[in-house]
Amino acid sequence: MEIKVLNGELKSQVCDVLVVGLFEKTEMLTGVISSVDEALGEIINDFVIKKDKFEAKFGQTYLLQTYGKIPANKVLVVGLGEKEKFNPNKLRELSAKIIKKASSIKAKKICIDLGKLEFDGLESGQVVAEGALIGEYSFDKYKTDKPKEHVEEFVLVEKDETKFNRLKDGVEKGVKIANAMNFARNLSNEPAQYATPTKLAEVAKKIEGVKVKVYEKDEIEKMGMGAFLAVAKGSSQAPKFIHVKYTPANPKRKIALIGKGITFDSGGYDIKPPSSMLTMKDDMSGAACVLSVMNTLRLFNPNVEVHGIVAACENMVNGSAYKPGDILTARNNKTIEVDNTDAEGRLTLADALCYACEIGVDEVIDIATLTGACMVALGTQAAGIMGNSQELIDKLIKVGESNGERFWQLPMYEEYKDGLKSDIADMRNTGSRYGGASAAGVFLKEFVKDVNWVHLDIAGVAFLEKPQKELIKGATGAGVRTLLNYILSI
Ligand code: BES
Ligand code: MN
Ligand code: ZN
Repeated sequence: MEIKVLNGELKSQVCDVLVVGLFEKTEMLTGVISSVDEALGEIINDFVIKKDKFEAKFGQTYLLQTYGKIPANKVLVVGLGEKEKFNPNKLRELSAKIIKKASSIKAKKICIDLGKLEFDGLESGQVVAEGALIGEYSFDKYKTDKPKEHVEEFVLVEKDETKFNRLKDGVEKGVKIANAMNFARNLSNEPAQYATPTKLAEVAKKIEGVKVKVYEKDEIEKMGMGAFLAVAKGSSQAPKFIHVKYTPANPKRKIALIGKGITFDSGGYDIKPPSSMLTMKDDMSGAACVLSVMNTLRLFNPNVEVHGIVAACENMVNGSAYKPGDILTARNNKTIEVDNTDAEGRLTLADALCYACEIGVDEVIDIATLTGACMVALGTQAAGIMGNSQELIDKLIKVGESNGERFWQLPMYEEYKDGLKSDIADMRNTGSRYGGASAAGVFLKEFVKDVNWVHLDIAGVAFLEKPQKELIKGATGAGVRTLLNYILSI
């Protein structure tokens, strides 16, 4: 689908579907919808609203024929809901809905005028473009019969010249961000047989405008990453430690992004029950997010040095696999007793965090499908956020909120460490079942040194079992919008 911006009048556009928005409890039609309605002989006002009692509740739609009264074939009236509750996130959601509705009626070209839908800070063109491309997404690579009906042209029409230019910039940004999300979704939706650690390394090597170093197993050994390597031991797939570096000329700040890259999490010897294992190809969603962000930076040229780091491996079971009770030595020489082989993410992140803290960055952000406990606490509505810098936590929560991604802060009380005490090593990798997300955060903190650090637990939001807002089932591209916009805000 191509998203276009056109300087002109909505009612005179030749297209399959003309889209007009209507707020709940609108007394009198004004602006774009009223000019379209006038051309239609006021059927929206007299029949859709008065006779058919279309309430314009959020997401409600009403499709009508134009019977040749205007060049467009059909008009889709879209309910915007209550005016006071409308915001950019709702517009993104609606845009996805419009695309789905339009393709369901086989429309090829649709036109919309956003009229007075303006917000502070965020361009409406951006969110509309995001929603359209996120809503259009499907993962049908492995389907023999691929869905044939697609909207080919989505045209945003604007009369006013200055608004038109802003709209264009907004759309351009939105397209880049949505493509980045869909790139991450594709990677996460791929089965583990395809998205192996080697594949992730290949994806990284293909990113343009960055330097990429992939450390092989022997080099990882030399780097003393005993925690990461232990997790990789039970798999026939070679582990890969991936470091992607984006360097502008005079960076204002240096940051590192670490993505959990477990390409399949069977649980190891503490094996998962079938129902929990089913979606574990997605345990590299953090890595998918980071690789996608790294892949998108050159389109924005931010003045920030960004390091993308992924310790990629599988958590499997064979005769060489690590076992409960094993004692591992991480890169910072701390020893870890394996209490549960299914708490593997934090082991791989431990070494990645040590590494990231050594490369001279000001900030480290890790993103990981880390704990079922976080999913239990926050469901699919928010990711967990923790860290050692309240300022960075607050900033990310704010950027997330204004871009439609929620982060909820969880505590990192000292006492959570008590549960991780080991009799024979410096710590265990798990403690009590209770407060599991916080315990994991406290564990990670042991490997962070002298940097501002934030941990994002996306276990609940990275993968959906049923559609939610603009997203279909499956991988969501969680974190991409927030991390990209955060970098652009520096
Ligand atoms: N990858 C899982 C966490 C997860 C669970 C992600 C559900 C997405 C959906 C992680 O490696 C894991 O298995 N965590 C364990 C930790 C436990 C053994 C302390 C968990 O949450 O059960
Ligand atoms: Mn696990
Ligand atoms: Zn895992």
